[in-house]
Amino acid sequence: MGKVTISTLNRMKVAGDKIAVITSYDASFTRQIERAGMDVILVGDSLGMVVQGHESTLPVTVSDMVYHTANVARVRQRAMVIADMPFMSHGTPGQALDTAGRLMKEGGAHMVKIEGGAPQLETVRHLTARAVPVCGHLGLLPQSIHQLGGYRVQGRDDEAAERIQRDAVGLQDAGAQMLVLECVPSLLAADISRRLAIPVIGIGAGAETDGQVLVLYDMLGITIDDGPRFVRNFLADAGDVQAALSAFVQAVKDGSFPAEEHELA
Ligand code: KIV
Repeated sequence: MGKVTISTLNRMKVAGDKIAVITSYDASFTRQIERAGMDVILVGDSLGMVVQGHESTLPVTVSDMVYHTANVARVRQRAMVIADMPFMSHGTPGQALDTAGRLMKEGGAHMVKIEGGAPQLETVRHLTARAVPVCGHLGLLPQSIHQLGGYRVQGRDDEAAERIQRDAVGLQDAGAQMLVLECVPSLLAADISRRLAIPVIGIGAGAETDGQVLVLYDMLGITIDDGPRFVRNFLADAGDVQAALSAFVQAVKDGSFPAEEHELA
């Protein structure tokens, strides 16, 4: 199998083949993730919580992201690697370009992910015009947790749903080549996935997106609390990490994950 590129993911979307995405932050898990046949690895700033023990993703630095992205990219074989732009690393288009440059040149990322809609459009245009592939991120934005007041479903009322839809189209028009939708109602996620030409990856967004992403430690059940409702513990049934990762890929591909019990209304 050839290396996964954005062209591979676009073809998968058109063919209706689901895209399996997982977070990773180090070499050993990445080797197992590769063996499981994952399509995309996201070096998420969730590492601030699951690796570093912070209460939120806000303390994560660009150097942290470069370090963990390089750990992953060093042993990556086939999967495409996306790295998060951490909090306060993309306040202006120029700052965002510096951050993306480090994540791609030093870290080895193939794409960068930016949280937010309308306020990010100028930055997304700036990056994509300079050969930086961008993945957008809408819905629940963990970097805005203190504004949101908690980790809650977004886009429940009509006004919020319309804003997310507008932002999704705006990001695509600005040049974003992928989109993550986090914690939004399934119907909204399904509608956006149909409307956009770019692959849409859901987390807590129902079964109708073009692919699914989970935080690695959540799907292995090794986070401190029970984890959100949309997560399934794949390790509990599979018995070991390698089998759990393969079961996740299989379940995404055959559409059995997420099931109804993982949906957020
Ligand atoms: O940081 C992260 O792991 C993420 C996922 C939750 C999509 O952004």
